[in-house]
Amino acid sequence: MKSLQYLNKYFLKYKWRFLLGIIFTIVSNYYGVQMPIYFKNAIDHLSDTKPNNVLWLAFQLGGSYMLLSLIKGFFLFLMRQTIIVMSRYIEFDLKNEIYTHYQTLDQGFFKRNSTGDLMNRISEDVGLVRMYLGPGIMYIINLIIAFALIVTQMIRISPSLTLFVLIPLPIMSILIYRVSSRMNAMSTLVQKEQSLLSTLAQETFSGIRIIKAYNREKETEDKLGQSAENYKKQSMRLVLVNAFFMPTIMFLIGISILIAVYYGGILSFTGPTKERISIGSIVAFIMFVNSLTWPFASLGWVSSIIQRASASQKRINEFLLTKPTILNSETGEFDFQGSVAFKQVSFQYPITDITAVSNVSFQVNKGETLAIVGHTGSGKSTISSLLMRQYDPQFGEILFDEKPLSSINLHALRDQTGIVPQDVFLFSDTIRENLQFGVNDHTPTEEELIAGCEMTHVYHNIQGFPDGFDTLLGERGVNLSGGQKQRISIARALLKKPKLLILDDCLSAVDTETEEIILRNLEKGKEDRTTIIISHRISTIRNATKIIVLNHGEVIESGTHETLISQKGTYFDMYEQQLKQEKN
Ligand SMILES: Nc1ncnc2c1ncn2[C@@H]1O[C@H](COP(=O)(O)OP(=O)(O)O)[C@@H](O)[C@H]1O
Ligand SMILES: [Mg+2]
Repeated sequence: MKSLQYLNKYFLKYKWRFLLGIIFTIVSNYYGVQMPIYFKNAIDHLSDTKPNNVLWLAFQLGGSYMLLSLIKGFFLFLMRQTIIVMSRYIEFDLKNEIYTHYQTLDQGFFKRNSTGDLMNRISEDVGLVRMYLGPGIMYIINLIIAFALIVTQMIRISPSLTLFVLIPLPIMSILIYRVSSRMNAMSTLVQKEQSLLSTLAQETFSGIRIIKAYNREKETEDKLGQSAENYKKQSMRLVLVNAFFMPTIMFLIGISILIAVYYGGILSFTGPTKERISIGSIVAFIMFVNSLTWPFASLGWVSSIIQRASASQKRINEFLLTKPTILNSETGEFDFQGSVAFKQVSFQYPITDITAVSNVSFQVNKGETLAIVGHTGSGKSTISSLLMRQYDPQFGEILFDEKPLSSINLHALRDQTGIVPQDVFLFSDTIRENLQFGVNDHTPTEEELIAGCEMTHVYHNIQGFPDGFDTLLGERGVNLSGGQKQRISIARALLKKPKLLILDDCLSAVDTETEEIILRNLEKGKEDRTTIIISHRISTIRNATKIIVLNHGEVIESGTHETLISQKGTYFDMYEQQLKQEKN
């Protein structure tokens, strides 16, 4: 239950609305209580009503009942309008808070948690929390107020009858408590199953191409079916317990009414004069007990709502209280002059023991091109992640213009950097939107877009599409070839006119001829920026100012193409091998 305390700040934010809701609840219940009292008085005066006036009395009773119901209903409407609307506002705020928080978190967080889980907490869990903020809170307030008002009236009529009639209530409370803790455990299981199910479904759809290509539809369906079956089983158990609730409560209420009639009857006819009650009072008691039915019955439901909400809020808090490990505390401007250096940098990924980068040092300046080569898994992409400060290294220093990376405003730095990651990501939007994604100071003109795409030798492809730049890409750019995606994503980086350009193995799906053209184009304008090219293909990086060769995270050789070839080491071997492959 403690987890729900997190939401108190929102109650405070909407305190006036909340207070108004409470007032409406009081007014609505006040009119609700008037009805039995009115009936009591009418019935008690029945005996001294003349026979020809009875019709008029009945008319009056019916009319007043209707009027009171209308007034009560009107305030009930207002009560819902304030409290339920408040819960919708809080839901909106909470979703925004979580979303904003997600955006501040680092790569490590997103690697640890699945997209399905992230989505679930922001939609499913917030939805369950909203049930507590709205109906949950509303019924609790309603119960307290109804109970207080009704019991006061009952005591005024007969304290001893009140005592008897209320005896089943503690039993009911204990029962509700027992059952709801059972339901708590069950609903946690249900939520877990649901989370598993939606993660699985999400993964199925994003991997649908692989599933079809490998003919795994049947197996995938079975797996999903199994998960759905588990979810159903858990839900059914919860529903079963839920189903026992209402009848049990009705039964206890029935007993209360029985007591009201039986003991009330005794009091009315044979009780001591002081405690004697009228027939009208018995009627009022039955009505009172009846109006306590719903608030009390809802208690079971409400307690399950609260249990589920607190489980959900606990999961939400888990993410909200996750602090980003990469903190961007700097807000000042940073005008990058072009020098980047690694000083004995070592880095180990948080969840594995693999030292991905070990004691790496290099320096590259404006106008120069640094190339990083090495076999897959040698730590090349990790270096680009470190440069973008997606992770902080455990040892060593990364310097931009001789300043430690941690002391530089990340947003300013990232604004001046164009990175083309190894795994291309394009949004399911038009090619135009994808291209201008990184440019935030102006909307690129048609000429700029064309120039960018010609640089990366993809404009002729785009021209071939009926809609040109306005061609819509499917999810993750599925209607493009791998090479086209790579070239568009390089164009996206170039359009930013970055002062630092990082190309991470992004020509792997392009044939050597096209690669030559792109590389030649990239030569232009390189004086104004610092370029880092990562590749496992030597042809890509031959002309670099400086080349470092990585192996298991360590720099094993460095120099220019010529010096490395003359050393006849690993670089030379790789070169020989690749030349042979190309000839074949
Ligand atoms: N997010 C990650 N979590 C844990 N280990 C990783 C992660 N990314 C890469 N690695 C590991 O770090 C090493 C270097 O990977 P990477 O930098 O991607 O190599 P390259 O780009 O040269 O192919 C590999 O052993 C890889 O398994
Ligand atoms: Mg890589």
